[in-house]
Amino acid sequence: MEKTLVIIKPDAVERNLIGQIIDIYERNDLKVIQMNMMKPTLEQVQKHYSEHQGKFFYNRLVEYLTSGDIVVLLLKGKGAIERVRKLNGKTNPEEAEEETLRKRFGIDHTRNSVHASDSEEKVAYESAIWLAKS
Ligand code: CMP
Repeated sequence: MEKTLVIIKPDAVERNLIGQIIDIYERNDLKVIQMNMMKPTLEQVQKHYSEHQGKFFYNRLVEYLTSGDIVVLLLKGKGAIERVRKLNGKTNPEEAEEETLRKRFGIDHTRNSVHASDSEEKVAYESAIWLAKS
């Protein structure tokens, strides 16, 4: 069974959306197998977004993700990586498909409520940053 990593971002934690977001994943046959709530460190966020270093939105992104608490989830399910990305929707909430998490809860490009890994390699890379070895 495939695993994927999700981050519930500060804008969603701040607005009490943790439960609603996890509920949507669970209703879609994704099982929470690890969970971690924390205030991210600068080092963690820089490592997580290293591929975006130098882009125009990088500083804003790092500043935002270190601004408050996040919840990291490890989800397990059939085709989890692709399915979770579909449930989350497009990066920009304005362009996200109806019913997706980002359409429902996202505010803008940066405060888009959720992150999910886009490949098996990223799941491993991101899990090493955010989760204790299980
Ligand atoms: P996420 O899925 O966490 O991964 C990379 C993040 O970069 C993305 O969510 C957005 O929050 C942010 N991002 C990507 N493209 C842009 C953009 N054009 N403007 C602002 N932020 C962006």
